Amino acid sequence: MINLAVFASGNGTNFEAIAQACQDGQIPAEVKILICDKPKAYVLERAKKYNILTKVVKLKDYASKEEYETQICAYLAPLNIDLICLAGYMKFCGPTLLNAYPNKIINIHPALLPAFKGAHAILDAYNYGVKVYGVTIHYVSPEIDGGKIISQATIDYHEGDTLDEIETKIHALEHILYVKTINKLIKEGL
Ligand code: GAR
Repeated sequence: MINLAVFASGNGTNFEAIAQACQDGQIPAEVKILICDKPKAYVLERAKKYNILTKVVKLKDYASKEEYETQICAYLAPLNIDLICLAGYMKFCGPTLLNAYPNKIINIHPALLPAFKGAHAILDAYNYGVKVYGVTIHYVSPEIDGGKIISQATIDYHEGDTLDEIETKIHALEHILYVKTINKLIKEGL
């Protein structure tokens, strides 16, 4: 069995898609822990439903990013984590985490990287007027949203689609692509 950690900061629909797929046996893995940097994030409620261990770690409670990530690593170490899945985790990963889990941290981004990096990718793509939207899963590297791409999927824009409609379609696609990609990595031996 593969041990996963999920890091999230917000709503947690991607976290839930992964947790549900593990529970259903669609992914041969277990989500051992949710790391969350926002005490009020709804993802923490979702984790309760699945009986998943949660740890809230707030950057501002630590003197440095290094100390913050050292604490996260201390939570992960006894769980023998094979893969860390960032799922709307709105912090960049520093060297402490990246060196502890080389090539073992992946992220989902709601755009076709390298286009529309950053925290408002869907809105940025919408304002730009793109005709093809997409989702990217990539390895996390020191460059934000810049690591090696693992998988991508696309959705066509249809005349008159609203931002809300596009967001809904992108999130649905994210859930499918994340589950598929984790499975692919596990099959390939991570
Ligand atoms: C997702 O759309 C994810 O791709 C995005 O945050 C959302 C989290 O949704 N991540 C980024 O923009 C990273 N740059 P969720 O909390 O419902 O999973």
